[in-house]
Amino acid sequence: MLVVAATQNAHKIRELTEITKDFGMEVISRAAAGVPDFEIEEDGAGFEENSLKKARVIMEYCGMAAIADDSGLVTDALGGAPGVLSARFAGVFGADADAANNRKLLALLSDVPDAERTARFVSVVTLVFPGGRALAARGECEGRIGREEKGSGGFGYDPLFTPLGFEKTFAELSAEEKNGISHRARALAALREILSESGGAG
Ligand code: IMP
Repeated sequence: MLVVAATQNAHKIRELTEITKDFGMEVISRAAAGVPDFEIEEDGAGFEENSLKKARVIMEYCGMAAIADDSGLVTDALGGAPGVLSARFAGVFGADADAANNRKLLALLSDVPDAERTARFVSVVTLVFPGGRALAARGECEGRIGREEKGSGGFGYDPLFTPLGFEKTFAELSAEEKNGISHRARALAALREILSESGGAG
């Protein structure tokens, strides 16, 4: 099944492609599906609404099945922030966004003791078929926020996030290791179950 990735984030597309490669799903970029470079406003209150909106807009644009990931980092000491605002937490866009977001997160958590630096990554993936049928699944990965950036792999908040049971940040783990335990991998595994229970594509 050919599926269009409803995201412009090259890191997300890479992870979606790698994780789903044995799912019988071939993920292609928006550009490869002929969808031009327009922004989809993420104005929903939660990951579920934003994920559904992104997948639906892209499916309606190109008439092909589309898969969206809406994701973010939820920290306990900050009452759940940055949450759905993770991508635009520091109000910086483009190449500097990740570094600015990480600086802001570290500054806000500077007085928070280690035991209270618990957090989780959340991903909600939604697959929308031509005709409008939508299947969605959520995945979470528990961990804690460090005191400095570590590692150069991954993207976003990866250099600050150490998953539970590990001593390395997501940015220090290999892509295979991250994709084995990540929120995105868990959401996609749950989506795969739902897809097979519901009789597959269409
Ligand atoms: P959105 O889903 O496009 O609204 O943006 C998700 C944002 O959450 C990204 O821009 C990152 O800041 C953050 N995020 C989501 N997943 C990950 C991940 O796997 N690693 C690091 N940051 C992530």
